[in-house]
Amino acid sequence: MPADVFGERYRFLPKEQLLTFEEITRLSRILVSLGALKIRLTGGEPLVRPGIERLAAQIARLPGVEDLAMTTNGYLLASKAQALKDAGLRRLTVSLDSLDDEVFKRLNGQRVGVQRILDGITAAEAAGFAPIKINTVVQRGVNDHTVVELARFCRERGHIVRFIEYMDVGTLNGWKLEQVVPAEELVSLIDAELPLEPVGGNYPGEVAMRYRYRDGGGEIGVIASVTKPFCGGCTRLRLSPDGSLYTCLFAAIGTDLRQPLRSGASDDEIRQVIAGLWQRRDDRYSEIRTSQTAAHTRKVEMYQIGG
Ligand SMILES: C[S@@+](CC[C@H](N)C(=O)[O-])C[C@H]1O[C@@H](n2cnc3c(N)ncnc32)[C@H](O)[C@@H]1O
Repeated sequence: MPADVFGERYRFLPKEQLLTFEEITRLSRILVSLGALKIRLTGGEPLVRPGIERLAAQIARLPGVEDLAMTTNGYLLASKAQALKDAGLRRLTVSLDSLDDEVFKRLNGQRVGVQRILDGITAAEAAGFAPIKINTVVQRGVNDHTVVELARFCRERGHIVRFIEYMDVGTLNGWKLEQVVPAEELVSLIDAELPLEPVGGNYPGEVAMRYRYRDGGGEIGVIASVTKPFCGGCTRLRLSPDGSLYTCLFAAIGTDLRQPLRSGASDDEIRQVIAGLWQRRDDRYSEIRTSQTAAHTRKVEMYQIGG
């Protein structure tokens, strides 16, 4: 959400347009009845939603939810970690693109230093989250020179770092193919200093390719969403805060569920809308991506549907 677009004058969605926790929990229950096993609270930034731990507790209690996770930028984590753990959140991913303060500040508009995020991670460890995952988006010429330092830090602290290829999400990041550091190159970079070997996937549809340190000192993941797209194995649905369901990170439009939710539709009617959407989906944007599609395709912004 670049500050020049979303500055002080930007009018955010009025509260009544956001789904309530009860509405999100109801949709979660319906999605679980259709086969969803894993739910992730992402964003935007999930921790700016007041009382998010209440939503986590409601979802954690739903029968059939096998995994409840959150991705956060870590800015508010120090004060929220324990409440999230107590609420039943199982796993935590913190985004951290560099340990170098200057690089990190350049990426977040000079607002936040690394230490604040590290304090959040420490609080999450103290609350009992383990292992914590760290998401690092790598951009050539921006933070690629800090990748090995970050890998070393995560290895020492027992975190699982996942290096993500920079993607053309939304329409505002001015993505260029030259900015992408291919996952293969990232693995070679780290392997040269901290020898690695590949590990088989955890589960079908897992997006990260995993590597472990040859000396047994933990593992890393790389997400090759640009150089090795995995559209065919994608099983994700994304729900925006205002109640639209998206079958792809790169979709232009979503399917509105807020209207049926608020006009008295039964669970079965909503289930049919979702099932129909799922059966029709044929998204494969990452397989057809070119510089042309990146520049000219209308896409939902990432702050609306998370990563
Ligand atoms: C959009 S954020 C939302 C959650 C939260 N605000 C955060 O910062 O973690 C989810 C994940 O998407 C990743 N991400 C953001 N922009 C990206 C891009 N252009 N390419 C690849 N991943 C990206 C972030 O690094 C983050 O780990």
